[in-house]
Amino acid sequence: MEPDWSSLEAAARAVLPRAYAPYSRFPVAAAIQFADGSVAAAVNVENASYPLSLCAERAAVAAGVAGGHGEVRAVLVLTDANEPTPPCGGCRQVLLEHGSPDVPVRSLTLQGHATEHRLGTLLPDAFGSGSMDRRNPPPPRDVW
Ligand code: THU
Repeated sequence: MEPDWSSLEAAARAVLPRAYAPYSRFPVAAAIQFADGSVAAAVNVENASYPLSLCAERAAVAAGVAGGHGEVRAVLVLTDANEPTPPCGGCRQVLLEHGSPDVPVRSLTLQGHATEHRLGTLLPDAFGSGSMDRRNPPPPRDVW
């Protein structure tokens, strides 16, 4: 399945004004396409207790997981910055948990500047479930 970049961009543009970023004043929207083809979009949601702030990408992953839409297949990050905004390190790790190294991540500004990288390039040699030497494997889904 090729990423539906125009749907991803439309979804991100629709929610960007709803970003809750009164502390950083840096609104971010993320739209993710999942294995079933559906798109979930989300924004950053900050908090007066700064470390509790939630990145847009992680919020979009949570929405897709809750919707049962399957794995992450494409990611779009939209901001009004001068340069395209790359996902933070923590979000790269979370995206990889629910996706794969070949997932394309496109960062786009409202002015139309874009960059695109694969998740595996953004987070090479990543820690994952396979890094734990099978001491603590994830249980199969049907025992949850
Ligand atoms: N932020 C995101 O939501 N995604 C990114 O890719 C980069 C950073 C948010 C976190 C915080 O609310 C604000 O941007 C400034 O760091």
